[in-house]
Amino acid sequence: MNSVKLVQIEPTTRCNFTCAFCSGRHMEQRDLEFHSFQTVVDRMPELECMELQGEGEPFLHPRIYDMIRYAKDHGIQVSSISNGSLLTAANVEKLLDCGLDSLNISIESPEPEEFKKIRGGDLNKITEGIRRLVKRKEERGTLTPVIGFSVTVLKSTASKLDDIFMLYEKLGMDGGISIQFLNASREYSRHYTEKENGEYLTGKEQLLIRRDYFRRLGHIQINKTAEHFFTRIEEAVKVNSGQAGYCVWLEDAIYINCQGYASSCVYIKDGEHLGLGHVERDGMESILEARRKEQEAIRSCIPTKSCAYINCEVVKQIKNMALN
Ligand SMILES: C[S@@+](CC[C@H](N)C(=O)[O-])C[C@H]1O[C@@H](n2cnc3c(N)ncnc32)[C@H](O)[C@@H]1O
Repeated sequence: MNSVKLVQIEPTTRCNFTCAFCSGRHMEQRDLEFHSFQTVVDRMPELECMELQGEGEPFLHPRIYDMIRYAKDHGIQVSSISNGSLLTAANVEKLLDCGLDSLNISIESPEPEEFKKIRGGDLNKITEGIRRLVKRKEERGTLTPVIGFSVTVLKSTASKLDDIFMLYEKLGMDGGISIQFLNASREYSRHYTEKENGEYLTGKEQLLIRRDYFRRLGHIQINKTAEHFFTRIEEAVKVNSGQAGYCVWLEDAIYINCQGYASSCVYIKDGEHLGLGHVERDGMESILEARRKEQEAIRSCIPTKSCAYINCEVVKQIKNMALN
């Protein structure tokens, strides 16, 4: 089976914030060509769900609303994660017009000063934008985009999660709250300073935070009419997690970076050398064939160049099997 239902596309690596843990700041600063975006949509007719977000701020792309509209016109559910700094009155109307299904706003702390230290942005301006979007949705009588929070849980801010839940309720949000911990893979951690290295949580701490998070999640309003891309990813993982060597990215999804390189996984940041090909120069047929070969290799327990580079869970499983 070579049909791809889930795609994550990086519109840009440019950003107006300064989060120290973000690897995008160390990458080439550029936007994805609109034509490359169209090629991906046109050549993958089985696409069902798209995440428009990579390492930069997606809403800085000059044609982001056209991208969303184009995908929606092709019957694709579209979600995104944003720093929320660009929710001006005019942009809120554009957002409602283009048909985005789900928008998560990133937050690590609900305290403006701490937020500014971590992200370099103005939390009050962001909450003002969220309020504006919630209000205009109501006035226009539309349920989408559902609007939630994405929280990168740091050691120094883990105790603020409860207050983030309260802020979600206070702002009348409806897209749920997702959490993730600081990414430990080399592609991210090689840019961390001592300060970011001190923000890791132990496995036990993560477990306790997750337990508390799920308990709280059960008590907030979530509109399930529109699912975020990552909910689909989590569902696919749940269904297939019993299968040895199952990789949700390799089997169900694909990543396209803002240079136009496709890769079998979102964690591959060097799409040019470790990816599956360029969407324009190599074409989607060649990319899907390269993906099929990677799938075959992994299913036969042969780590591929890109997967071994990431040293992901599937590759660890394969190495363990070889040792036993
Ligand atoms: C890379 S940002 C891109 C979208 C947008 N610029 C934003 O700030 O939401 C998407 C999400 O990834 C998270 N993120 C970035 N770098 C990370 C890292 N090293 N580990 C874990 N999460 C990270 C951010 O906090 C944010 O919630």
